[in-house]
Amino acid sequence: MAVRQVLRMGHPLLLQRALPVVEFNTAALDILIQDMFDTMAELNGAGLAAPQIAEGFRVVIFSIDNNPRYPDAERVPSTILINPEIEILSSEEQLGWEGCLSVPGMRGQVPRHQHIRYRGFDAAGNLFEREVSGIHARVVQHECDHLDGVLYPQRIRDMSEFGFTDVLTEQGRVKKVAKA
Ligand code: NI
Repeated sequence: MAVRQVLRMGHPLLLQRALPVVEFNTAALDILIQDMFDTMAELNGAGLAAPQIAEGFRVVIFSIDNNPRYPDAERVPSTILINPEIEILSSEEQLGWEGCLSVPGMRGQVPRHQHIRYRGFDAAGNLFEREVSGIHARVVQHECDHLDGVLYPQRIRDMSEFGFTDVLTEQGRVKKVAKA
């Protein structure tokens, strides 16, 4: 159980494609997942992908609680998602502000598919799938991008919609945005 160091943008491991998990119910996988939750909690993140802590496997976690500080935020159940696949259910995209623990202190407007189905394995190796939209769909797309070596700034189409969190907040352009 440990809070791990999160790699920041510029580190080559964040640009690599991660490998699938082939063995479930192993101590190594359990430790990896626990370290990811410890790290995400320490940094108040909404999501984390294994490559962000220098573990090149297709494992992501995410969770958006009913946080009293963000009363408007939609809830996203605490989830462990391994070897994920995303199916796009509508071509409709939506712009939304994102932050990332690997890009600290910044926010950008990123287009994401509004409605997706995703499937993958839990920690015990059980396959599950969900159909989701909105914030839930956004956080899944953000995290799964990490597994393919893609950080959200690479998805920004209008770079005038990218900046420092404190300035954007002071300018009233962003409210609290979950970091993933
Ligand atoms: Ni991220």
